[in-house]
Amino acid sequence: MIDTNLPLTDIHRHLDGNIRAQTILDLGREFNIALPAQSLETLLPHVQVTANEPDLVSFLAKLDWGVKVLASLDACRRVAYENMEDASRQGLHYVELRFSPGYMAMTHNLPVAGVVEAVIAGVREGSQAFGVEARLIGIMSRTFGEAACLQELEALLAHRDSITALDLAGDELGFPGSLFLPHFNRARDAGWHITVHAGEAAGPESIWQAIRELGAERIGHGVKAVEDPALMAFLAEQRIGIESCLTSNIQTSTVPSLARHPLKTFLEHGVLASINTDDPAVQGVDIGHEYQTAAPAAGLSRDQIRQAQINGLEIAFLSAAEKQVLR
Ligand code: ADE
Ligand code: ZN
Repeated sequence: MIDTNLPLTDIHRHLDGNIRAQTILDLGREFNIALPAQSLETLLPHVQVTANEPDLVSFLAKLDWGVKVLASLDACRRVAYENMEDASRQGLHYVELRFSPGYMAMTHNLPVAGVVEAVIAGVREGSQAFGVEARLIGIMSRTFGEAACLQELEALLAHRDSITALDLAGDELGFPGSLFLPHFNRARDAGWHITVHAGEAAGPESIWQAIRELGAERIGHGVKAVEDPALMAFLAEQRIGIESCLTSNIQTSTVPSLARHPLKTFLEHGVLASINTDDPAVQGVDIGHEYQTAAPAAGLSRDQIRQAQINGLEIAFLSAAEKQVLR
């Protein structure tokens, strides 16, 4: 149900949630890092979601093995490059890759700005090699607190021209957006776009806060917006984009089943909602699965799936001229 006459985009995809299991094995061997299993088959259950997790924080723990093997800047560059190869194999024309440089740097004490540089280089090389257009979104991992996020922000600002937007990800319930006002003020001063993970683990008030206080132009997930009719109207009127990630929302137990996912309601209310993956390697999905299997299971009609595909480019962090080139 992908319209092959339209550009295919994924604007919510974590580069550090999309590290191949084979790469985890390779890097584990290269750096002598003890892994929980030694073959691809036996490693998979440790690095991939096998059953729905009870909550977001348990789901996020599944990303840890991927970053634990990032023992050099070259390893960071490799996973960035492979992300572009994966995007190309999945038929994507345009991808916005997001990453948390502090999280990637953490296990082996890598220089955070060096990680940013390595990711930029890997994505640039991969974009050229595979012919997929890409933009980078810097993430601050709220789970590690305000000071660690400030360090991530500084490292990203050192490469501000290669970064398109700032995001806040991680434990939404434990670390509300209000803790990060100064960080987002600086991001806006830098001329970056803003997207925030909100209304995933917390309620609609978290989405209002992301928009009003942090300056979010798009919302990651945003599923809880359906609980607030005024917010739904506001999202549609103000053209605030929603980055929906269907399977992810089931795997984090944010939504009990695809049949009850609010994406269809968003589209019926004229909200600019799009279809994306989130952490494809960890989830064991690709963008094709989200369009061909998850979206119909969420009750979307063919036209609604097409509208979501159109919305992906519409709300992309690109200029009108850049979008025109992709159309
Ligand atoms: N980091 C990776 N995936 C995430 C998600 N679904 N929510 C918050 N932070 C994340
Ligand atoms: Zn996400």
